[in-house]
Amino acid sequence: MRLSIQGVTKEFETRDGKILALDETSLEIKSGEFVCFVGPSGCGKTTLLNLVAGLETPTRGTILANENAVTGPGHDRVVIFQEAALFPWLNVIQNVEFGLMKRMESKKRHEIARAFLNLVHLTRFEKSYIHELSGGMKSRVALARALALNPSVLLMDEPFAALDAQTRGILHEELQDIFLKTKQTVLFVTHNAREAVRLADRVLVFTARPGKIKAEIRIEKSRPRDLIDPDWPIAYIKKIEVLLREEIEKVLKEEVDREWSLKKTDLLRPAGIDLGSGI
Ligand SMILES: Nc1ncnc2c1ncn2[C@@H]1O[C@H](COP(=O)(O)OP(=O)(O)OP(=O)(O)O)[C@@H](O)[C@H]1O
Ligand SMILES: [Mg+2]
Repeated sequence: MRLSIQGVTKEFETRDGKILALDETSLEIKSGEFVCFVGPSGCGKTTLLNLVAGLETPTRGTILANENAVTGPGHDRVVIFQEAALFPWLNVIQNVEFGLMKRMESKKRHEIARAFLNLVHLTRFEKSYIHELSGGMKSRVALARALALNPSVLLMDEPFAALDAQTRGILHEELQDIFLKTKQTVLFVTHNAREAVRLADRVLVFTARPGKIKAEIRIEKSRPRDLIDPDWPIAYIKKIEVLLREEIEKVLKEEVDREWSLKKTDLLRPAGIDLGSGI
């Protein structure tokens, strides 16, 4: 599925006034493309995924999915959240079948769920309950459940952020294998430059809030990609980390400045010192 994000701005109304989360963002994504979003916390990455999912509506601008305006959620666009959001009262295979409940009869549903559990190497655990699984296994169940819906677009919001580096590495390998087969369009949010370079066709670095696309880096490397490959293009990772650090430093400086000016007010005003306009 092709996606066209055209001049999209998102403002949220809060108790303290309006927050501009995403500012005039435009982006074209080809069918079958794997795009990673990286950017400092609060720059609007999740907001952008929610807009594409149809869970939020843009304040201005348009999102097209294969030329049709996105006006709400649809089975063609599925989100995988950071917290795997599985149902603890259902076992593994029931979790995978859940989304198919209204679409087909139980035998067919069961067959499809088993095929996807096999794809993520969880066949042995189909009867286990969620609390009996490791973090990596939960991520696999969430992936199987999303893939079983056969979406055209997968929206993955830091799906592996809570995992240790080894488990994450194994899931990267599995994810690459799966997407070489399924060729879905993927939007994947991460804070990890290595993860982005390993997985993406294109990495988009966002500015600090309000989020805008700051840089686009195309990863010219065939798949499957392996991080211990001696030809691994480490330069991509460095470039992304530098761009990212610039934005994170902006956020930190803003926070330190705000805290410092608050502290000055607290410390000096009781002493009867006029703060004037220079502070
Ligand atoms: N429903 C909402 N109501 C009000 N403000 C919101 C809402 N959702 C997000 N925001 C604000 O919009 C901004 C962007 O939030 P968003 O969750 O998209 O950031 P993010 O880039 O995903 O951050 P992180 O990396 O920490 O997950 C933040 O300042 C956040 O407080
Ligand atoms: Mg987020």
